[in-house]
Amino acid sequence: EIIDGRGLILCPSFVDVHVHLRDPGQTYKEDIESGSKCAVAGGFTTVVCMPNTQPAIDSPEVAQYVIQRAREVGLCEVLPAGALTKGRQGKELTDFFALKNAGCVALTDDGSPLMDSRLMEKALRLARQLGLFVMNHCEDDGLARGHINEGYVSSLLGIAHRSPSAEDVLVARDCILSYHTKGRIHIQHLSSKLSVEIIRFFKEKSAPISCEVNPYHLFFEEDELLKSGANAKVNPPLRREEDIQALLEGIKDRTIDCIATDHAPHAKKEKGLLESAMPGMIGLQTALPMALELVRRGIIDLKRMVELLSINPAKLLGVERGIKVGALANLVLFNPDQEWVLNEETNLSKSQNTPLWGKTLKGRVVMTIKDGKIVYKSGA
Ligand code: DOR
Repeated sequence: EIIDGRGLILCPSFVDVHVHLRDPGQTYKEDIESGSKCAVAGGFTTVVCMPNTQPAIDSPEVAQYVIQRAREVGLCEVLPAGALTKGRQGKELTDFFALKNAGCVALTDDGSPLMDSRLMEKALRLARQLGLFVMNHCEDDGLARGHINEGYVSSLLGIAHRSPSAEDVLVARDCILSYHTKGRIHIQHLSSKLSVEIIRFFKEKSAPISCEVNPYHLFFEEDELLKSGANAKVNPPLRREEDIQALLEGIKDRTIDCIATDHAPHAKKEKGLLESAMPGMIGLQTALPMALELVRRGIIDLKRMVELLSINPAKLLGVERGIKVGALANLVLFNPDQEWVLNEETNLSKSQNTPLWGKTLKGRVVMTIKDGKIVYKSGA
């Protein structure tokens, strides 16, 4: 087949190191099939799914279920991150060796408040021995009991807040533990100014740290909650302009390694009142238009965008990306100027929770190719 790519951009397909596919257990929100469809429509051919499923991905059996189910669906590679502790209860470490053998590429308790420093240190040492890395949603439970950022919106609405300190304290802890143990930590969805500065400091000391940012934290401030309500509720929460500026600096000076979507589907009924709503937003289909907005605003160039969405996350996982003669193609072809609306017709997720619902987005995937096969064609 001859593919006419005139006027389009071709690059290595994207890799998302942080998605929630809700399978097994909460498949009314998403499942491996619908999640894979969103991924390839967004230009991703490899995603790492978090273990906060039911049951948790804390055993070889559940890890194998995820991998096999994704193979049956046959669109996108889904690599599980195994739970660090049994049932994500923070009590007893899981059998890392068995999880690795079953195909887990990383370990995380995914923000479970129960993971204490002693266990984290032990986990980093063990992970290092096995050549795995640890991921963490850094927010200290004691400081993160509230619902939205500590700031003007929390005061205005009288809603309990979770302060940036909740994030900064755990980012600092995990950086220190990684520095001392030499175990690799990947810090998820940075959102606060100080956390970027802490990571910059420890990277300069050559600690084995990587980190990601969620596109929503780059474009939306806390006041988005006043417009989008619970669809703008996420953990860590949307913050302030000065945090956004620090994140953009971190992207420019390479403190931040990856863009990851933290695709977190929730049903409509779970997105009611701000206080009780589940946190999270869907993001696999909107990552490219949001990343392209960074390019349009002159913050990064296209090459850096591809590093953030493809090359760096691939390196972290040790999967191949890049264009090599003779290799099976993992590519995405996209039109940077095509406008489209995220709505019932275009959305492939089972959920609709995003402040971008109904909005016009610029930049659309035309085709995604995985291992030499077309796994997505726009409109098909
Ligand atoms: O808001 C969030 N929701 N942040 C996370 O990191 C987890 C996610 C979820 O699982 O819904």
